[in-house]
Amino acid sequence: MGDVVSGTEANGVPFAVRRLSPHIGGEVIGLDLSRELAPEVVAAVRLAWLQHQVLLFRDQTLTDDDQVRFARMFGEPVGSRSMKQANPNVMLISNVRENGQLIGVLPDGELQFHADSIYLEKPLMGAILYAVELPSTGGNTKFSSTYAAYDALSRDEKRRLSGLTALNAFDYETQVRTGRFDPSKGPHYKHPVVRTHPETGRKGIFVNRLMSQHIVGLPAKESDAILARLWDLCECPEFTYEHVWRVGDVVLWDNRCTQHARTDFPASERRLLRRVGIEGDKPY
Ligand code: SIN
Repeated sequence: MGDVVSGTEANGVPFAVRRLSPHIGGEVIGLDLSRELAPEVVAAVRLAWLQHQVLLFRDQTLTDDDQVRFARMFGEPVGSRSMKQANPNVMLISNVRENGQLIGVLPDGELQFHADSIYLEKPLMGAILYAVELPSTGGNTKFSSTYAAYDALSRDEKRRLSGLTALNAFDYETQVRTGRFDPSKGPHYKHPVVRTHPETGRKGIFVNRLMSQHIVGLPAKESDAILARLWDLCECPEFTYEHVWRVGDVVLWDNRCTQHARTDFPASERRLLRRVGIEGDKPY
């Protein structure tokens, strides 16, 4: 990798983008996100985001408010009201405990592939993670392109998936699915198995291993077989970029056409990232 694919001072955009993997990810070089960005720069970042699906910005120093302001360039910021951060749009992803209490969510270990909040009617459009404290090894975040996974299906498979919906649920403890989903308890929502991106018009697979329960109206055996095929495609290393974090990294992902997962890391070491979500709309 490493080829600079777009945006240089020479063509009027004050940053360059270096491709991070064949199908997904671009590193934006030359922007300081703690500063206000001009509207034409914001527009160029958005174009790069739509093209690369995941953008990395290294060596940033961001306050909570800076990160929320950056999120607002893409849409309405959303965090988690339960968090005790001064800025209610900021959520901590962390295994750090203060007085025996976790200060964030998604604390420990591996996290299976998922797109955020697809058990809700309007899943996030995207999210921004900022690395504050990291373990000495592991805790990498893998991002996969659901466009690339969809494009790899045969014409017959694409035809078979057209019009199907899946039930997606919040049904996980310690970041791995329990397999004991109870519709009277956690939030759940039916979405198309294949969604169309509202800005690019491209199709991507919209079921994931952590949250998708079954395909509506299909016998369990057939549903399981289709889901297994789609999950395997979405998790195929060829369509994936694995991000090894450095403190100061900012990663912005498009939740409409990507999935992400986390690798294991030592429970004895601190990991703290700040997340700001961006409000989404109803998938179709
Ligand atoms: C997430 O799924 O939002 C968390 C990813 C991570 O901790 O790397």
